[in-house]
Amino acid sequence: MQVGEFLYEGKAKQIYATDNEKVVLIKYKDDATAFDGTKKGTIVNKGIVNNRVSNLLFKLLEKNGIETHLLEQIDDRQTLVKKVKIVPVEVVVRNVIAGSLSKRIGVEEGVELADTIIELYYKDDELHDPMINEYHARVMGWATAEQLKEIDRQAHIINKVLKEFFDSINIILVDFKLEFGLYEGRIILGDEISPDTCRLWDKISLEKLDKDRFRRDMGKEAEAYQEVVRRIEAVLA
Ligand code: TMP
Ligand code: ASP
Repeated sequence: MQVGEFLYEGKAKQIYATDNEKVVLIKYKDDATAFDGTKKGTIVNKGIVNNRVSNLLFKLLEKNGIETHLLEQIDDRQTLVKKVKIVPVEVVVRNVIAGSLSKRIGVEEGVELADTIIELYYKDDELHDPMINEYHARVMGWATAEQLKEIDRQAHIINKVLKEFFDSINIILVDFKLEFGLYEGRIILGDEISPDTCRLWDKISLEKLDKDRFRRDMGKEAEAYQEVVRRIEAVLA
C-alpha cells in the first residue's frame, strides 16, 4: 500500500490517501484539545495508546457483529481504514451521569442511569457541536430515518459489548462518543474509541482513566492512558 496525498488534519489525527481509493491511512497524534480546541496540550504517547486501544476494541466489536472501518494497523501510530462518508452526527452513549449531562440536568456525576441514554450532536466545531435530535438529523438531511434507526441499533450493541468488556477489566464505562459513516451504502462504525472519546473510571477507586484528566487539569494523563492500554492488552492482545 502506497501512502498518497495528505487529505485532512483533525484535532487528534491526520488522514492520508492511499493508492486504493476505498482506503485511507489514519495517523494518530499526541495533540490533546478540549472545549472545541480552545484548550490545547499534548499527552505523551497518546497517539500510540489511542491507535492500539481503538483497534483492539474495534476487533472485539467486529467479533460481535459490528462492522467497523478498521482494516489493518501499520505501525504504532498508523492504521489503514475503509474510507467512509462520515455522518455529521456525533452519537454519545451514557450509562452513568457525568460531564455535560450532569450540568444540563443538575444531577451529580456518578449516579448510575436506570437505562442507557443516547444523545445526538451536530458535528460542527464552529457551532460547538450543538445537541440535536432525530428530527433535526433527518429533516436537515444528515441521515435518513432508516440510517438513524440502524445507528441507534448499533450504538446499543456497542454499549453492551464494551460495558461488559470494561467491567471485566475493572473499569466502569461511564459514557462515550461514536461516529458512524457510510461505506458501500452500509452504516459502519468509524473514527476511534479511546480514552479521548470515553469516560473510563476505575471500578474500585473511581479514579478517572481518560481525557477528563486533561480537561480538568488533574495531571497524570499519560499514566492513565497507559493503564487503560495495559488492562486491555492483558485480555485482548
Ligand atoms: P460530554 O459529557 O462532554 O457531553 O461528553 C460525553 C462523552 O463524549 C465523553 O465520554 C466524552 C465524549 N466526547 C467526545 O469524544 N468528543 C467531544 O467533542 C465531546 C463533547 C465529548
Ligand atoms: N475533542 C473536543 C475538542 O477538542 C472536545 C472534548 O473532547 O472535550 O474540543
